[in-house]
Amino acid sequence: METSYLKAGQIAAEALEFGKKLIKENVTLLSVAKQVEEKIFQLGGRPAFPVQLSKNEIAAHFCPLDEVEIFENGDLVKLDVGVHINGFIADTACTVSVGGGNLELIKASNDALNDAIQKMTPGTTLGEIGAGIQEIINAYGFNPIKNLSGHQIKQFELHAGLSIPNFKNNSSVELEEGQVFAVEPFATTGEGFVKDGRPSGIYSIIEIKPTRAGREILDFIKREYNQLPFTSRWLMKRFPEFKVSSSFRFLEREGVVKQYPQLPERSNGIVSQAEHTVIVKRKPLVITKLI
Ligand code: CO
Repeated sequence: METSYLKAGQIAAEALEFGKKLIKENVTLLSVAKQVEEKIFQLGGRPAFPVQLSKNEIAAHFCPLDEVEIFENGDLVKLDVGVHINGFIADTACTVSVGGGNLELIKASNDALNDAIQKMTPGTTLGEIGAGIQEIINAYGFNPIKNLSGHQIKQFELHAGLSIPNFKNNSSVELEEGQVFAVEPFATTGEGFVKDGRPSGIYSIIEIKPTRAGREILDFIKREYNQLPFTSRWLMKRFPEFKVSSSFRFLEREGVVKQYPQLPERSNGIVSQAEHTVIVKRKPLVITKLI
């Protein structure tokens, strides 16, 4: 199990490093997402969710679907990459500044992440980790995003059980040896809350039930992605576009799949993010650091 986590972690780290360098002015978001996803397959992994490239006030869940969106000078870009090997998931993200602005904001989430990682030892409470993240981000003069959190990971479960708060929430729940978490502080120039934005094109299965239509697509999704998030863009490679869109509309209406919304900051603050996947140990093991 740990071997699969380590392998997924190294592939995610390499794909992130590769993707970072592709983010440049006038390049389309879609071309970067596609190349990073291809890289993951080349390295022997599979995407645990669609590559996300969220700009500026969008904190997360921006999944490019067409050639329209490009990177512009001044953009602050969160690149979020997930890889799995047999369902063992590594989730990592970084923030790239197009044109070199907002460096303090990037440092704030990076420092908060490093502080949190050191505390990923058995017996630390979730509240202590959140308190550290909040303190560091506040010291930079920014706010952490309080309604986004790090998340426990289990096989084929991206959000399993416990959450790592990005603020002091007084939780006395203690970390246990061997637990796996994606730790992801977000720092913002805004109030520190995300709201639901436009539909993202990222979906996951909520409940398998017998359906009249969309059967073929649903069977494919179950087989290929299990419980993990996916995008309609991936399905277009296998099925005609009209079939994908009509099936998705039907499956969404029937409550079989749900679509995630984009997550913009409520007050339009600019957002940075840093993320690693960590196994709780006396000496915390960061699986998504390049070795
Ligand atoms: Co992530």
